[in-house]
Amino acid sequence: MKSKMKIQLPVILLLGFFVFAASQFQTDAGAGDFKYVGVDKCAGACHKGESKGNQLEIWKDSKHAQAYNTLLSAVSDSIAKAWGSGTSAAETPQCLKCHVLGKDIVESELTETFDKTQGVQCETCHGAGSEYKKLSIMKDKNAAIENGLIIPPDNEAFCKGCHNSESPFYKEFNYEENWAKIKHPAPEK
Ligand code: HEC
Ligand code: HEC
Ligand code: HEC
Repeated sequence: MKSKMKIQLPVILLLGFFVFAASQFQTDAGAGDFKYVGVDKCAGACHKGESKGNQLEIWKDSKHAQAYNTLLSAVSDSIAKAWGSGTSAAETPQCLKCHVLGKDIVESELTETFDKTQGVQCETCHGAGSEYKKLSIMKDKNAAIENGLIIPPDNEAFCKGCHNSESPFYKEFNYEENWAKIKHPAPEK
């Protein structure tokens, strides 16, 4: 009995490790399927102009398009320093999180067309677009969602993921007012 236990325990541990390793691998593979491609890939051909609803134009005129550039100022550097960062604001992950993707920038999730200097961009709110940008997928909303497209289910809560008191310039966020400044609906068909 005792000797049997001795064999079983390592076997169980080993099996456990494989199950764990496999699940880790799957998660990584899943996340790696969708990569950030940048504004030009979303709006270069499709999401611009009157007939589509001027998504590119509305975004370009919004402060979101300037969110990275904002970090390049002396004021930003001094806030970063006050937050204990040893680098410039534009290299400080805590600042970049809200001023670019809404999460940490991970090199392996970017394609070469992605441009962090475009700040809070289409994919910040709509998810990494490498798969759903394909026309065959994009024309079917459900397929697009299965392939990484995000349409925030609760806009106000979504905005407050960044528009909150963690922001060094936080002012109370009025959803109606702010959404009116950036909304960009597709035209009624
Ligand atoms: C990933 C983080 C993030 C999310 C999510 C986000 N924002 Fe922002 N937003 C910012 C940042 C950063 C700025 C400041 C940009 C700058 O001035 O450099 C900003 C600025 C703005 C401004 C300009 C404010 C002004 O003073 O004129 C408006 C309007 C705005 N956001 C609306 C929204 C709305 C509406 C939503 C939700 C649908 C939203 N934002 C979601 C990060 C975000
Ligand atoms: C700050 C977040 C944010 C940014 C940046 C942003 N969007 Fe949106 N977008 C939204 C939200 C929220 C909606 C509205 C979803 C709803 O109606 O409930 C939306 C709606 C849309 C729609 C309409 C979907 C529909 O079915 O009517 C399109 C198309 C779209 N966005 C494309 C873009 C493109 C292209 C860009 C970049 C040029 C962009 N968005 C940038 C948050 C954002
Ligand atoms: C929790 C998200 C968040 C974090 C973290 C964050 N910001 Fe922002 N930042 C915002 C939002 C949202 C705005 C728009 C003003 C507001 O808060 O309503 C903004 C505005 C600014 C502005 C003012 C832009 C203008 O002209 O009005 C500066 C400068 C700035 N942030 C720098 C930084 C720096 C530097 C860091 C890091 C030390 C940082 N932010 C971290 C979300 C954030």
